[in-house]
Amino acid sequence: MSDYQPKILGFLCNWCCYTAADSAGVGRYQYPPNLRVIRMMCTGRLDPSFPLEGLAAGADGIFVGGCHPGECHYIDGNYHALISASLVHEVLARIGINKERFLIDWASAAEGPNFVKIITHFTHRVAALGPLGSSEKLDAEEVRHKLSAAAEAARGRKVRTGLINASKEMIKGGDFSRETISDLVATKCDKALNTLLG
Ligand code: FES
Repeated sequence: MSDYQPKILGFLCNWCCYTAADSAGVGRYQYPPNLRVIRMMCTGRLDPSFPLEGLAAGADGIFVGGCHPGECHYIDGNYHALISASLVHEVLARIGINKERFLIDWASAAEGPNFVKIITHFTHRVAALGPLGSSEKLDAEEVRHKLSAAAEAARGRKVRTGLINASKEMIKGGDFSRETISDLVATKCDKALNTLLG
């Protein structure tokens, strides 16, 4: 297992993390070569099914990188990304996949070294967990099956309704802490997830 190299899939915001990754490359900062990047205009575009599909398709870890809170170019896209991320964490926990395999974090365009630090730490964390399924004591086929079903559930109407309600409450309450958002999503989507995932 010593030469094991985790496969990391990254969804990076065009305006910050993607540029930070680019500037880290130009500045010749070293970071693990395990990351494959999908560029999006804003992390608010992240659908919660994307990370689940990414894991089902063979990634060992998923990273979402956006602008710092309060600095999203579309005002509150990264707060909505936290809603999606909370659902991903909730779903992973329910299907027995280690939540440490999914990370959402921030680095501005000028923070190449910070991006390097985040992605290096995350890559080591996923490497320590081993290939998807190993730390979970599940075989690869079972993992793929669970994740595909979870992605389907995340696209379902009832879960979507729960996420919309969680978003509305988040905006209304004005508390954008990860803990509050996570509690909101768990509460609003609990019934739908119980029905869909058991
Ligand atoms: Fe970067 Fe919204 S524009 S997270």
